[in-house]
Amino acid sequence: MDKLHIEGGTRLDGEIRISGAKNATLPILAGTLLANGPVTVGNVPHLHDITTTVELLGRMGVSVTVDEKMRIEVDTSTIKNLYAPYELVKTMRASILVLGPLLGRFGEADVSLPGGCAIGLRPVNIHVDGLRAMGADIVVENGYIKARCERLKGASLDLDAVTVTGTENLMMAAVLAEGETIINNAACEPEVVDLAAFLNHLGADVQGAGTARIVINGVDSLTGGEYDVLPDRIEAGTYLVAGAITRGRVRVKDVNPEHLTAVLSKLTEAGAQIDVQDDSIELTMHGRPRAVDVSTAPYPMFPTDMQAQFTALNSVAKGRGVISETVFENRFMHVLEMQRMGANITLDGHQAISEGVEQLTAAPVMATDLRASASLVLAGLVAKGRTEISRIYHIDRGYECIEEKLHQLGAVIKRVPD
Ligand code: EPU
Repeated sequence: MDKLHIEGGTRLDGEIRISGAKNATLPILAGTLLANGPVTVGNVPHLHDITTTVELLGRMGVSVTVDEKMRIEVDTSTIKNLYAPYELVKTMRASILVLGPLLGRFGEADVSLPGGCAIGLRPVNIHVDGLRAMGADIVVENGYIKARCERLKGASLDLDAVTVTGTENLMMAAVLAEGETIINNAACEPEVVDLAAFLNHLGADVQGAGTARIVINGVDSLTGGEYDVLPDRIEAGTYLVAGAITRGRVRVKDVNPEHLTAVLSKLTEAGAQIDVQDDSIELTMHGRPRAVDVSTAPYPMFPTDMQAQFTALNSVAKGRGVISETVFENRFMHVLEMQRMGANITLDGHQAISEGVEQLTAAPVMATDLRASASLVLAGLVAKGRTEISRIYHIDRGYECIEEKLHQLGAVIKRVPD
């Protein structure tokens, strides 16, 4: 397994392009299962989770071709297996996203239950309850969700919690259902909006995405088409924090700045100067950042997927910062690793309380999940000495060419085979 080696202490300065959003590409690729004609998805990031999704579709007998620009063409006319096996679902929970489309179009789906996760329990009860309310007959047997239905029927769904993939799964199931489905307490994330735009582009009738009430009027079929995925706001936010933590200047281009409002507001509070253009953001940090208090919550509030990166920023910032994680129960694994690098952070229930230190020191550390790994890279960028990060396959799930992009900004980083 590869490792990342980072020599800390370089001030980042430069510009990078932001890739397409992982968390929009995954539901959109699942959504291609609803289309009668071939679908081409563009601006797809080159990531491990995308490869897993391509493999998942391939196992179903779907024809998938990926060109050199990572445009993915999906043709479902050859589909024969309506299932998602454990060996793929256990490596990528988002595989659950095929449940709604398979059931909605073919009336049948066997999808492995995802099981435990490094950041929290992450049950899928809301996905299952919603599908049952639409008429699906669902049993859990031998570790699999086995779902069957005639044509699903529109229903009024009041979700117990705001769930991103839950909203997406139910939206996809409803697109070909009979009649109207209303999803109340829906997730408002830009990735949900992008999925709705994609489905509408193929002929669906989804209204209200981006608000807490989504209304879907079922149609008989979807056509093929071409669609480009939106930019990755979390990747953009991560590189902006890299600029802030190294007291540097980083410009991220091909982004939608509106999607980063909560993150930019916290970076400004930390002392960064932010210059927003139509599709780019430039951050300059003069001097030591100030610690900020952050509380994660569903969009448009501060994203849980940026929590670990701000924990890294606070660890070297001036003063005391309190990070409250309200979305997942166990998303502080990175704190224990940062402590090994000399960070002064105390965990108290769902809060990480830091007193910023002047200097972190390099140590061998281990990545435990995607965003935790990103935060360790950020810590490594400012630690004295050479930080070695192992288990970096987590990073490759969500950050396209991370070492090339950081290198472009001036970081001293390299991937080393173990
Ligand atoms: N929840 C339930 N029951 C359900 C579904 C969710 O109780 O049936 C709870 C979860 O346990 C959690 C909360 O609801 O406490 C929110 O979880 P959500 O379902 O929104 O998370 P998700 O859809 O599984 C997506 C992203 C995550 C991101 C979260 C929150 C994708 C593929 N994944 O996960 O991304 O952290 O939303 O914004 O879109 C990442 O990219 O690193 C990542 C983990």
